[in-house]
Amino acid sequence: MCGIVGYIGDGHAKDIIIEGLKKLEYRGYDSSGIALYIDGKIQVRKQMGRIANLEAVITEKEFDSHLGIGHTRWATHGAPSDVNAHPHGNGDETVAVVHNGIIENYVELREWLSREHGVKFRSETDTEVIAHLIGIYYDGDLVDAVYRAVEKMKGAYAIGVVSSHEPDKIVAVRKDSPLVAGLGEGCNFIASDIPALLRHVRKIYLIENNEVVVLTTGDIKIFNQDRKEVHREVFHVTWDAASAEKDGFDHFMLKEIHEQPKAIEETLSRRLDADGLVKLDGIRMTKEDIESFQKVYIVACGTAYHAGLIGKHAIEKLAKIPVEVDVASEFRYRDPFVDDKTLFIAISQSGETLDTLAALREAKRKGARVLSVVNVVGSSVARESDDVFYTWAGPEIAVASTKAYTTQLVCMYLIALFMGRTKGSLDVETYQSVIRELSAIPEKLRGLLTKEEEIDAIAKDLYRCESVFFIGRGPDASVSFEGSLKLKEISYINSFAVAAGELKHGTIALIEQGTVVIALATQERLFDKMLSNIQEVKARGARVLGIAKEGNVGMEQQADWMITIPDCHDDVAPLMSVVPLQLLAYHIAKLRGCDIDKPKNLAKSVTVE
Ligand code: F6R
Repeated sequence: MCGIVGYIGDGHAKDIIIEGLKKLEYRGYDSSGIALYIDGKIQVRKQMGRIANLEAVITEKEFDSHLGIGHTRWATHGAPSDVNAHPHGNGDETVAVVHNGIIENYVELREWLSREHGVKFRSETDTEVIAHLIGIYYDGDLVDAVYRAVEKMKGAYAIGVVSSHEPDKIVAVRKDSPLVAGLGEGCNFIASDIPALLRHVRKIYLIENNEVVVLTTGDIKIFNQDRKEVHREVFHVTWDAASAEKDGFDHFMLKEIHEQPKAIEETLSRRLDADGLVKLDGIRMTKEDIESFQKVYIVACGTAYHAGLIGKHAIEKLAKIPVEVDVASEFRYRDPFVDDKTLFIAISQSGETLDTLAALREAKRKGARVLSVVNVVGSSVARESDDVFYTWAGPEIAVASTKAYTTQLVCMYLIALFMGRTKGSLDVETYQSVIRELSAIPEKLRGLLTKEEEIDAIAKDLYRCESVFFIGRGPDASVSFEGSLKLKEISYINSFAVAAGELKHGTIALIEQGTVVIALATQERLFDKMLSNIQEVKARGARVLGIAKEGNVGMEQQADWMITIPDCHDDVAPLMSVVPLQLLAYHIAKLRGCDIDKPKNLAKSVTVE
């Protein structure tokens, strides 16, 4: 989704903003632009395509300033084009605005602005109305004009505003779209996400909904909806800038796949005490709360939703509470049965996914207790939850989620274990054995990751195929969904996952000579069933890649290719079986020449519906 960067200070705004925008490229974009205050005027440059295109048109030496805002756009209203790229200005170009989000009533506002104020629009965007509103309301006080404009706007937005009338400030507003302010020395910043600022600042203000932030060179002031100044604690970023760099890997995705053992160690170390017991420091859910839950709802989108499917297996098995898993965009609009005896678990890497946030609010409104599993500290989902279980995966930059998924799984296991022990539905031996199994995962994963060459060789056999089917049973079915999503989103191969037992109810009609089927068979008690499913597809000419645990016999005779994962308890196998699928998707996409970290049409943080 769109990215915003703003800078005011004694440095070179142009370079700092462009560098910040590059750090936000992972969010996904189709055009970029910058507005700088130069010689008494706001000067705007914007270009469709990559940031390099923008850089090519801002080579003039004199095109620099102490004040500016920049933007990467992910088109919503109006096609990707130079004209629709941000920043947008008002009629006399005294105001420039960058915006992430959607102004829902923009049609109404456009009509009103044209009718009442004779405004002529240059672009098809919703954002342009914001610039005109601020221009119209400007009466010697930019902050007041922004407040008045915001009163008229409905929807989700984070905006950054500069004006040639007041070149000593940036004004920014947040409502339901991410925004942070960075506190520097002799300079201050706004951005959609922390990585954009890390090279310059570690002190961050997390801006809350409906807040207006005013930056000058020496100060950052935050005001609430009633225009009262609010005090905000500084959030100190502890992870270093290098963790948001590629570190010698060709792509962020590959780096993040390889970071999984370390990320899982970190997730576990935050939640296991010296005796190896799950500790829920900072989580206020009591024994009585846990005993009162009659139902758990897990709600998320995409990969996080797939983590929720595994969470269902874990919670139902270990904590013996019925669990429903839903995609957030469905949950929020279907009046689900939720009450004060419901535990609502939201899973989100970014913590900014609008549908997940809306579902969470809906569940809260109905009285549910909200626990979130989130990676980005201080994000909206985290802030609006009763309790937060951070995944501590570190920054995930590649659009395709990998280490966030596996750490989300670890969190789901820990939550299930804790609830099971607290309720008394889980015996000590099982509890301890699952914890032992989890603790052994990082080392086993390190071993598994050494099979990358083997997986690359299989990718060379497969990368030209037109479609791929994924099948599995139980937790393997859930991992199949994730493997299929990974493959399609970065390689653009048409892939499809189906629970293996469902094949013969329709999908098997598509299996023909040469069709590639990836069959996961890591679950002991379902292994023979999977062998039968493999035979069914083989009989129709499919070529099969089997994924099974070391030592499982029977698969090699049937599969055309095999990848084994280290032996482990069935319940935790998804933590490993997904890794070859991530690597396979990666190598296939690489062989197909795809833009792996920034797949077409996708965004890292989906802050619109
Ligand atoms: C796929 C992927 C997406 C996200 C989804 C939810 O690789 O990353 O499917 O999982 O957009 O995002 P978060 O977890 O940030 O809520």
